[in-house]
Amino acid sequence: MRPAIFIALLLLSPALLAADGHALYQNHCAACHGLDGQGGVGIPLALAAFQAQASDDYLARTIRHGRPGRIMPPFSQLSDADIQAIIGYIRSWQPTIKPPVYQDTAVAGNAITGKKLFDQHCSSCHGANGVGGRGTGVMFSRPHDLPIVPPALNNSGFLASASDAMIHSVIAHGRSNTPMPAAKLLGVTPTQINDIVSYIRSLKPAPLADISHEPAILVADSPYNYDETIAKVKAAAVGMNFRLIRDQALDSGLVEDGKETRSHMMVYFCNFKFLYDALAIDPRVGLFLPCRVTVIKTADGKVKVMSINPKRLSHIFNNNELDQACEEMHKLYTSILEEATL
Ligand code: HEC
Ligand code: HEC
Repeated sequence: MRPAIFIALLLLSPALLAADGHALYQNHCAACHGLDGQGGVGIPLALAAFQAQASDDYLARTIRHGRPGRIMPPFSQLSDADIQAIIGYIRSWQPTIKPPVYQDTAVAGNAITGKKLFDQHCSSCHGANGVGGRGTGVMFSRPHDLPIVPPALNNSGFLASASDAMIHSVIAHGRSNTPMPAAKLLGVTPTQINDIVSYIRSLKPAPLADISHEPAILVADSPYNYDETIAKVKAAAVGMNFRLIRDQALDSGLVEDGKETRSHMMVYFCNFKFLYDALAIDPRVGLFLPCRVTVIKTADGKVKVMSINPKRLSHIFNNNELDQACEEMHKLYTSILEEATL
């Protein structure tokens, strides 16, 4: 084959264009939405009912904005062409479904009536004021009642992406093969759907944690010597209902027993109730666990107690609920540091 023809074929081949979207999808989306769009932490994108409701415009905006505070990150680093390629790949799972196109006109509903209807029919799943279902849908220890976590509707990313007409369509039809029921099933009339859409449109996004002033680690100076400080840290943790797990010198296991450094001790502790609650919110919290406070003796003999700042770590995960749990962790760590150095 002549090179020019070969290149022309390459450029024209839809399979190769799809391969590009495929790679981008695998890199950026598959971890949460599943390799074949079957869903996971993120909702199933391959589902026929979803594809028949989501416009390409909605998909593009959703990818751009993400869902602030609801795990899905914004993809500002992707070019418009990248996003179109990903959408092309997502559509390849349902080649016979023609993507809908919605008008951008606002529905004329009554938001006050809409709120009542929402509280009656929707908030049991989507949460009061549309904050969304709790957790990630991924659980280690027990089955959960909803296989798919109901999305947040008060979310800035959702509200900036979905037109009124699309929200109307989702409520009217529900989503087959997900827990999302059709309006008819709930006894909700077409006029009432308009009221609900107007209410959803009026929702205020949940505030996001502000970590701009948060240090990466929490540090307190200890007035006690090294061994006393370690003992104080343990007593403080136990006093706050933690169970001590172990303490470990920085080089323990790397040097002979008894020869470990006497300047860097990590105290590990755990509270099982807190641990299970936190893991149910987001299994990635496992990266922070068990709780750990480090006691350090500096070269000039000063003793410091320090821990990670859970608020800073949590921020990486774009999860409001995790931010709240880490706010609690932050308080606990701060109290232990204060108590131990009092
Ligand atoms: C039994 C639980 C349940 C009830 C009740 C319910 N939903 Fe849902 N809803 C879901 C789930 C789960 C999804 C995600 C479906 C999916 O995976 O595509 C969803 C999706 C949606 C979406 C699409 C959101 C998005 O991010 O694309 C909208 C809009 C919505 N629901 C509105 C409503 C409204 C309004 C009501 C009340 C009239 C309602 N839902 C009742 C569970 C529920
Ligand atoms: C870190 C996990 C994560 C990643 C990565 C991620 N998503 Fe999501 N996505 C989610 C979650 C979680 C939701 C539901 C948000 C909620 O519960 O409020 C969601 C929602 C969506 C929705 C809205 C679904 C609906 O019902 O309307 C679309 C579309 C979507 N994601 C597409 C993508 C695409 C495409 C990518 C890759 C470019 C991607 N997501 C990357 C977790 C993720």
